[in-house]
Amino acid sequence: MDALRRTFEQQLGAALPGVDITLERPKSGELGDLAFPCFRAAKQLGKNPVQLSQELAASIAIEGASLVAAGPYLNLKLAPGVRAQTVLGAILTPPANRPFGSRPPHGKKVIVEYSSPNIAKLFTIGHLRSTMIGHALAQTHQFLGYEVIRLNHLGDWGTQFGTLLAAYTRWAQEGNAALEADFDWAEPAPERRRTPLFRLFQLYVRFHAEEENDPAMRDEARAWFKRLEAGDAEARRLWSWFREISLKEFQRIYDRLGVRFDTLEQGEAFYEDQLEPTMKRLMEAGLLVEGDKGARIINLEDVGITTPCLVQKGDGTSIYATRDLAAALYRKEAYGFDRCLYVVGTDQVLHFQQIFAVLDKLDPWFKGRMLHTPFGMIKLPEGKMSTRKGNVIFLEDVLDEARERVAAIIEEKNPDLKDKAEVSEMLGMGAVVFFDAMNDRVKPITFTWDRVIALDGDTGPYVQYAHARILSVLRKAGGDWAMKAQVHSAHGPFLSYPDAQLPSPLSGLDAPEAQSLLFELAGLPGAVAAVADGCMATPLARQLVAVARSFSGFYTNCPILAPENAPEVREARLALCVATARALRQGLFLMGIQAPDEM
Ligand code: ARG
Repeated sequence: MDALRRTFEQQLGAALPGVDITLERPKSGELGDLAFPCFRAAKQLGKNPVQLSQELAASIAIEGASLVAAGPYLNLKLAPGVRAQTVLGAILTPPANRPFGSRPPHGKKVIVEYSSPNIAKLFTIGHLRSTMIGHALAQTHQFLGYEVIRLNHLGDWGTQFGTLLAAYTRWAQEGNAALEADFDWAEPAPERRRTPLFRLFQLYVRFHAEEENDPAMRDEARAWFKRLEAGDAEARRLWSWFREISLKEFQRIYDRLGVRFDTLEQGEAFYEDQLEPTMKRLMEAGLLVEGDKGARIINLEDVGITTPCLVQKGDGTSIYATRDLAAALYRKEAYGFDRCLYVVGTDQVLHFQQIFAVLDKLDPWFKGRMLHTPFGMIKLPEGKMSTRKGNVIFLEDVLDEARERVAAIIEEKNPDLKDKAEVSEMLGMGAVVFFDAMNDRVKPITFTWDRVIALDGDTGPYVQYAHARILSVLRKAGGDWAMKAQVHSAHGPFLSYPDAQLPSPLSGLDAPEAQSLLFELAGLPGAVAAVADGCMATPLARQLVAVARSFSGFYTNCPILAPENAPEVREARLALCVATARALRQGLFLMGIQAPDEM
């Protein structure tokens, strides 16, 4: 399709010198494969766009394609056999054996910072978005030839540690009995509820609850944080223990989600010894101003941000923003990136505006490299989730529930399925992760179990089902095709395993349903590129649904293994099946979802 695009662009360029040519994808494959909207060109030339598209249709000729004026659009439509050849060729026999839609390495470097949970709090459904959006962005950028550095700005420092230390030293000595008294053991709780991290979390919640009636406790927490910052041995010892037990839990969840980071060692605490040098740089740049009660602030009014950026509290302690500034400076030195993406909720928009503005003032190198990709928060029907108040939904509970719901359906519909447990996990995860991706990135999501664990309609399992169905067709086809199914499952989703050649002739793919499937497959590279451009997985999720849906149309209307099929029809249709399975598996994988062979 790339070659075709270039030819079309060249022809248009020759016909319209000096006009800038931007091609689009038509709404459907029936209209064509590429579209040239004539509006802008027409304006530049002082013509009517409808007339211009007619003129172009009459004057341009491209072999194997027809050019049709549809109102102000000039559509290029490939002949059915050429479309089949082009799309199947791109997927099954790609140049240099590169996976469909990928790009070779080009030396650009992107940091994706995502997930970044706070230590000593449990992973809630709220962390899913940052984790999976970030994961999809990291995978996609890598696929598109970027060098990707995956970072996790763990919240392992800050005043919440004062709270935790105060709570722990106050009550932990009371022993587990006291901790358990706060907890409703009447309901059999999952095993993890008994972990040290969960106990810590309860202490944290309890502290905040009691603090309401006893403001002196706030000072106690502050004092502990000062001790921690000053390097007090007891505070340090406990802090590193809190960190360790938290990381163990996080790692378990990351493993379950299939998410990984280049390091978990660059959390907020990592920058502690860089805070002073950072403050010094800010001072030398003449940016620091004294704010209320001896605090240090940076005014940003001149760049249109009315709230100054607070970088040091009156008591001399650092804050979140200070550590983000130090982190950015460190990343410049350590990685020298082209782009740094912060996958963090919409509630921190101002924070990042401030940070980026300060960095721009400090060092123009940062200009245009830093990008906050905010996402909408997940709310409960009764309001905002709050770890402090304890009204949260834990991510693992959602994944477990999804798995169980799927398992019940499998038990009913396909009780003989092998690897039931694994498949239920893949589908449950597929449902939850895909649901998230189908949502507009910045809009808030209201959590209800039935919404988040969506199994019908445009869902992950729907796409996974199309994939599994194809493999079942291939197994039924037997022989070489069954072997291809096996190779498909055995290979990593990014590895193209070349089919030496396409079936020839490629007949049997002229039906509108086959043509529409080919058209939707051809839309995948654009969707992947849109994920990186728009920093959200939605375009890819939507395109995968479109492929799965058109596969279903093809499957229903174009019998694949019917005995009356001529051999070359059967071969061509099976080749389309293989191409579709590869594209689906690869697309799901970019989103962090696995595709089972059977379901
Ligand atoms: N730990 C923070 C939170 O849970 C998110 C950190 C985001 N990243 C950053 N560089 N500030 O809200």
